[in-house]
Amino acid sequence: MPAAEVRPLDAADLAAVVELERVSQPFPLAAGRLKPALLDRSERLLGIQADGRLLAYAHVSRLPFDAELQSLLVAPGERRQGLAGRLMQAVLGEARGWRSESLQLEVRVGNAGAIRLYRHWGFVEDGRRRDYYPSLDGAGREDALLMSRRMREA
Ligand SMILES: CC(C)(COP(=O)(O)OP(=O)(O)OC[C@H]1O[C@@H](n2cnc3c(N)ncnc32)[C@H](O)[C@@H]1OP(=O)(O)O)[C@@H](O)C(=O)NCCC(=O)NCCS
Repeated sequence: MPAAEVRPLDAADLAAVVELERVSQPFPLAAGRLKPALLDRSERLLGIQADGRLLAYAHVSRLPFDAELQSLLVAPGERRQGLAGRLMQAVLGEARGWRSESLQLEVRVGNAGAIRLYRHWGFVEDGRRRDYYPSLDGAGREDALLMSRRMREA
């Protein structure tokens, strides 16, 4: 894996983010959802690119007191090499820069790999949101686990 840098993404990266979503997700986000985030100053998209291809990205939102991780996505062939960890470090840097009190997220209760990653980065479980996601087999709904990490002492 080349030591590609984490860099902020902007409107010029829209097609690359759409393509990464398309090849990586059962329910990919489309351009109409991603474009406003790339233009909004209270949203931050960070990416890792190598050889002209976007391999991974994260999206974090600035809220009045906290920050919320909206997406963390690594291309299927690039997983378990620490890319999500590098993005998480950059996301935590953004939240610190915003002086956010906490970083929050939602994750499918069945997404054991992501939950392990988040625990590793200091997130704790705050509760559940029932039937939040469409289930991956299309047959029903799946709960969200709510997790957060304190960014600074009260
Ligand atoms: C979850 C995801 C972002 C992890 O990305 P990644 O680059 O593979 O993660 P890292 O290499 O930084 O993993 C760091 C640690 O997290 C844990 N982890 C990550 N993926 C895991 C998996 N599939 N199974 C078990 N543990 C996992 C491990 O502890 C791992 O350390 P290790 O490889 O030394 O064992 C990636 O699998 C992905 O994009 N999945 C689809 C989208 C998604 O689920 N996003 C998160 C919910 S919004």
